Amino acid sequence: MNLTNDERRTLIQAAVEIRKRAYVPYSNYPVGAAVRTKTGKIYTGVNVENAAYPHTMCAERVAIFKAVSEGETEFDVVAVVTNNGGSPCGGCRQVMAEFGLDTIVLIADGSGNLKKEMSVAELLPEAFTPKHLQ
Ligand code: THU
Repeated sequence: MNLTNDERRTLIQAAVEIRKRAYVPYSNYPVGAAVRTKTGKIYTGVNVENAAYPHTMCAERVAIFKAVSEGETEFDVVAVVTNNGGSPCGGCRQVMAEFGLDTIVLIADGSGNLKKEMSVAELLPEAFTPKHLQ
């Protein structure tokens, strides 16, 4: 899909803003995410850490799960914001792949500068998807 710079900016800005709510007492590495549905709604998420470390949840998954729990399962773009333009983890790539390999992923730094833009298919080649279970 072809995104305009305004569209990129809007989604990245939503992730920049929500990142302030990241709950990161252990890593001190706040992550903000924003996903736009094909119907044009935006859902945001932050990483939420836990004293029992493995129970931490990533920002991307929080955003996607919020959307899914509101009945939205089709996404055209996801923005992820970290201090240093970090890339989504493997688990988040897998969750993105569940809902479509064509979704565009925008990776930005804490100032909102776009560092990378690619599809989920590019981020997770040879993905295991629902079609493998048919
Ligand atoms: N984190 C995310 O929120 N998304 C990712 O894709 C990578 C990692 C979080 C988890 C943890 O709270 C912190 O970043 C450091 O790993």
